[in-house]
Amino acid sequence: MNLEEKFQKLHQFHSQAELAGGVERIQQQHEKGKMTARERLQFFLDEGSFVELDKFVTHRCSDFGMEDKKILGDGVVTGYGTVSGRHVYVFAQDFTVFGGSLSATQAQKICKVLDLAMKNGRPVIGLCDSGGARIQEGVESLAGYAEIFYRNTLASGVVPQISVIMGPCAGGAVYSPGLTDFIFMVKKSSYMFLTGPDVIKTVTHEDVTMEELGGAVTHSTKSGVCHMASDDEKSCLLLVRELLNFLPSNNVDEVPKIKTTDPIQRTEPKLRTLIPENSKQAYDMKEVIEAVLDDNYFLEIQKDFAPNLLIGFGSLGGKSVGIVANQPAVLAGCLDVNASDKAARFVRFCDAFNIPLITFVDVPGFLPGTEQEYGGIIRHGAKLLYAYSEATVPKITVITRKAYGGAYCVMASKQLRADINFTFPTGEIAVMGPEGAVAIVFRNELQKAKDPVSEKNRLIQDYSDTFATPYKAAELGFVDEIIFPEQTRYKLAQALEMLKNKRDRMPPKKHGNIPL
Ligand code: HXC
Repeated sequence: MNLEEKFQKLHQFHSQAELAGGVERIQQQHEKGKMTARERLQFFLDEGSFVELDKFVTHRCSDFGMEDKKILGDGVVTGYGTVSGRHVYVFAQDFTVFGGSLSATQAQKICKVLDLAMKNGRPVIGLCDSGGARIQEGVESLAGYAEIFYRNTLASGVVPQISVIMGPCAGGAVYSPGLTDFIFMVKKSSYMFLTGPDVIKTVTHEDVTMEELGGAVTHSTKSGVCHMASDDEKSCLLLVRELLNFLPSNNVDEVPKIKTTDPIQRTEPKLRTLIPENSKQAYDMKEVIEAVLDDNYFLEIQKDFAPNLLIGFGSLGGKSVGIVANQPAVLAGCLDVNASDKAARFVRFCDAFNIPLITFVDVPGFLPGTEQEYGGIIRHGAKLLYAYSEATVPKITVITRKAYGGAYCVMASKQLRADINFTFPTGEIAVMGPEGAVAIVFRNELQKAKDPVSEKNRLIQDYSDTFATPYKAAELGFVDEIIFPEQTRYKLAQALEMLKNKRDRMPPKKHGNIPL
């Protein structure tokens, strides 16, 4: 082979690898409204930044006539590139090659990228579109999955890991995404389930469609598995880029700087009137959050799951912050099983990646009821207590109104080592709300009263004036400052600046035992 022929051969290999499963299968992918693996990476990464690895890898299977069906790349495109100029590692499963199914060599390629991401401290983003374990390879492909799961676990808390589900994701294949920090899905074209509709029909006789069982809407509203659901592939990938802008590249890097011209001393007069005078009246906590963040921008995560609690990212003074907030507009902002899980995992993510936490509190307590108790609210609420207690990042709390009972303790109270606790003058910080408290403490007096209704109203008023205020907590130093609501943004910025060199450690141990 002369020199020219050698170059020709390399050209041929490239073309062959890029054609993957062939023109017909690429067309089928397009007809389903889906991009190919390469098209997705091209759209997702900064233009011209993608560098591919292992482009010519092929499988080693010789059963079921597979030795005659080798396709360069073996169903996954792997490598690295940049997002907004910052390096990331990527892999994208290629449905045109054996349905993107996972072979031993495909697993090897993914593991190589995960190892590189950990070693070099960069996020890893997986675009999943796969029929699961490559059936022809049997246990070899299962072993490949296990290798990936193991690395996902090692990488957890070291580099951000994001999974983007852009097609089927069945069987054990869901567990790699399940181990990562954030899962994105595309509505009507991506599915996640352990056992599909046919198996379910056989075993439990339930009739369920793929969409109902494991579609983006199901997982972003019912199961909480999916963090962000988008209408189409492009908007989904753009959303992943947006999220990455708020995340540091690894657990020792500082949070990224985010461009803003929003003055840090900006006051927000509408916050003075946002909290209704009648404390039973709802309001939208998102308005408080948006009012204080740079450019009023809040990237909400898991917005349709447990909407009684809000989580997400924004920036303050041009630096990323994580937001946790009760939402009084839904279930009066009560904490329940799902809200506790949602918040606990988010707090742990922010803590792992040094993203300061700001908590807005308006919580009447835990949601009462047998459904919650049987569902293990004790266990789930404990996760949030644990997560906040363990978090050593700067923690700042703003009580806007109610902070009652156990929920006061849970929501980044001073006693869980929050660094700075603010409250609005509308704060109500006590063991329970006035009506409940009066009914218990003055039960005998009320039974004996000549006019129980007016006596009850008098006692409620008395209790409210004494305890449903922020002044008891301020007297005890459990809140550091009662602030005018319109000044919240500047107060938070000052606190963050003061805490920027915070050093705090947990006692040495192998690991704790979070109530799972
Ligand atoms: C090998 C597979 C495959 C697989 C699909 N293909 N899944 N090849 N192993 N797991 C191939 C098909 O043979 C077909 O090849 C091509 O991919 C496209 O598949 P279609 O069925 O034509 O596509 P579609 O109708 O869109 O259906 C997609 C699908 C379906 C829903 C994913 O293919 C499917 O149900 N596949 C099996 C899913 C599954 O049960 N996987 C194993 C899960 S158990 P040709 O050559 O015709 O184009 C598991 C255990 C892991 O993953 C445990 C880890 C702990």
